[in-house]
Amino acid sequence: MIDNFENLTRSHYCGALSLAQLGQEVRIMGWVHKRRDLGGLIFIDLRDVQGLVQVIIPPENQSAFFKAEKVRNEYVIAVRGMVQARSAANINKNLATGEVEVLVSELYVLNDTPPLPIQINDLALADEDLRLTYRYLDLRREKLQSIIRMRHQITKAIREYLNERDFYEIETPVLVKSTPEGARDYLVPSRIQPGKFYALPQSPQMLKQLLMIAGFDRYYQIARCFRDEDLRADRQPEFTQIDIELSFVSQEQIFELLEGMMAHLFREVLHLELPTPFPRLSYYDAMNRFGCDKPDLRFALELCELSDVFKNSQFQVFSSALTNGGVIKGLVIPQAGVFSRKQLDELVGLARHVGGKGLAFVKVQGGSLEAGISKFLSPEESQALLNRCQARDGDLVAIAADSFEMACKILSAIRIEAASRLKLIPEDTFSFVWITSFPLFSFNSEHKRWEPAHHMFTLPKNEHIPWLDDPAKTGDIQGQLYDLVCNGMELSSGSIRCHRYDLQKKIFDILGFSAEELQERFGFFLEALKYGAPPHGGIAPGLDRIVMIMSKADSIRDVIAFPKTLKATDLMLNAPDHVSEEQWRELNLKPIK
Ligand code: AMO
Ligand code: AMP
Repeated sequence: MIDNFENLTRSHYCGALSLAQLGQEVRIMGWVHKRRDLGGLIFIDLRDVQGLVQVIIPPENQSAFFKAEKVRNEYVIAVRGMVQARSAANINKNLATGEVEVLVSELYVLNDTPPLPIQINDLALADEDLRLTYRYLDLRREKLQSIIRMRHQITKAIREYLNERDFYEIETPVLVKSTPEGARDYLVPSRIQPGKFYALPQSPQMLKQLLMIAGFDRYYQIARCFRDEDLRADRQPEFTQIDIELSFVSQEQIFELLEGMMAHLFREVLHLELPTPFPRLSYYDAMNRFGCDKPDLRFALELCELSDVFKNSQFQVFSSALTNGGVIKGLVIPQAGVFSRKQLDELVGLARHVGGKGLAFVKVQGGSLEAGISKFLSPEESQALLNRCQARDGDLVAIAADSFEMACKILSAIRIEAASRLKLIPEDTFSFVWITSFPLFSFNSEHKRWEPAHHMFTLPKNEHIPWLDDPAKTGDIQGQLYDLVCNGMELSSGSIRCHRYDLQKKIFDILGFSAEELQERFGFFLEALKYGAPPHGGIAPGLDRIVMIMSKADSIRDVIAFPKTLKATDLMLNAPDHVSEEQWRELNLKPIK
């Protein structure tokens, strides 16, 4: 029997009850989290958005008891009752409301449910696909509830921070034209203009620049972005950026703004003081020292350069790498000399997995090298390696000989794996770092063309602007580009933009756009740059990743209410899905058989 909801009003949230309400009559509502029938007495843990409280239904209260006997987990009920203190022996220190319980006088069953397809339990997780199919039930779990609530606190604090600093929150359209950020576009066919498509924005990049040209000076938007790309633990096909752009601004001012914003977020949401300013590393130093442009600086472990140590090496793996223009780099893994054969093989497997040809090892023992490839090294080389790496007895040195990029990639992966095996990564640390001075272009050797290393709308460093005219210098041009990294994750990316038509045009030329293609894809934008574009720049922190870092979630799917799988499907909605033949016809489309 389901009771009427009419005339019931809630006086408190379940999770908000404490000794402060002692002796008061309260009316609370929520889900039956757990029901225990102790012979004569029924206990229910009643759950709502703020937490759990224990309610007791004594047998003397026949009508309530009769209903309570029938309720099952996840029924929706309301109770009226008196807040009483629990006896000392029954105080539950693990529960916020653990000092009190509610003695029920009336109980209303507001809705029932068959047994759920998944359990609402953080400790006994069902298969993820099943949980995503029933996401609305999975979201009842305390862990997901607290993350989604934290996400709200974070967006609220971001808005407060930016609103206080004269930013305008402006929406930009979602049905647009391709806004490239290096991924494929999601396209939407137009019914009214047969054969034409909108593209969903990969970011509002060009639109926010146009807002600067329009004179809005400071803009932000909690913006949904869409990218059809390979998904990973920290990537979703649609995700949210805190998109920010400012006019008449320098890189330094943007750093200060973001540092203040992160400090505000951590203070408001986690009650933590973040030390600012954040340290900075150039792209080149980050690669050289840590092997990647998003280094996890919660632990030390730096790579060492060994190319010169082995410049005359007889070891064929090393000499051929150097002859081919590659490098030799090493990583000391402290006290890992005890790694078993199997553990070493796993590290070699990891090196191969990221695309390397192999990984060499030596162990340090009694001040000299042994095992691994030590027999291929001359005494001078061994000594030089020890000096360079500052390795100590018991350490293991992993060595990669490959192209600069590949050697970095391998040792960066080994660095993270070793640190996690050796438990060198402190859990409660947030290590922010700015990565600066990125190259503007990178050469795609497969397609034999220059591509934007990051972003095609970026201004080169002032001293490199003349190099836009010198093809021999293209690879050396550095952009006014910056990333904010935390604990090894790229949180934000931004740049000072090309506000001059002539420079933007030169960049498009280097990227090899034909005149027609340029006109068709970016004509409106290039034209806008002619009409008094102010100097401007910006940044776009990824909201999902900020929530991941702050909530310590392992997967980006845990910080999004309705996420997609690694195959970009929404299992709950069953999207993407087929559409009717009529819809195909209306859109003037035909499936390829
Ligand atoms: P970028 O492409 O580097 O820069 O993106 C900025 C930030 O957005 C987040 N992000 C993602 N988060 C989840 N899933 C994804 N697939 C995904 N892709 C990106 C990251 C990243 O740091 N318009 C520029 C920004 C600018 O220059 O102002 C841009 O989009 O946290
Ligand atoms: P091989 O000559 O392939 O038998 O390799 C000899 C040793 O060098 C093995 O320990 C390999 O794992 C290692 N090795 C192979 N290629 C590389 C490389 N590119 N960098 C470092 N070590 C390598």
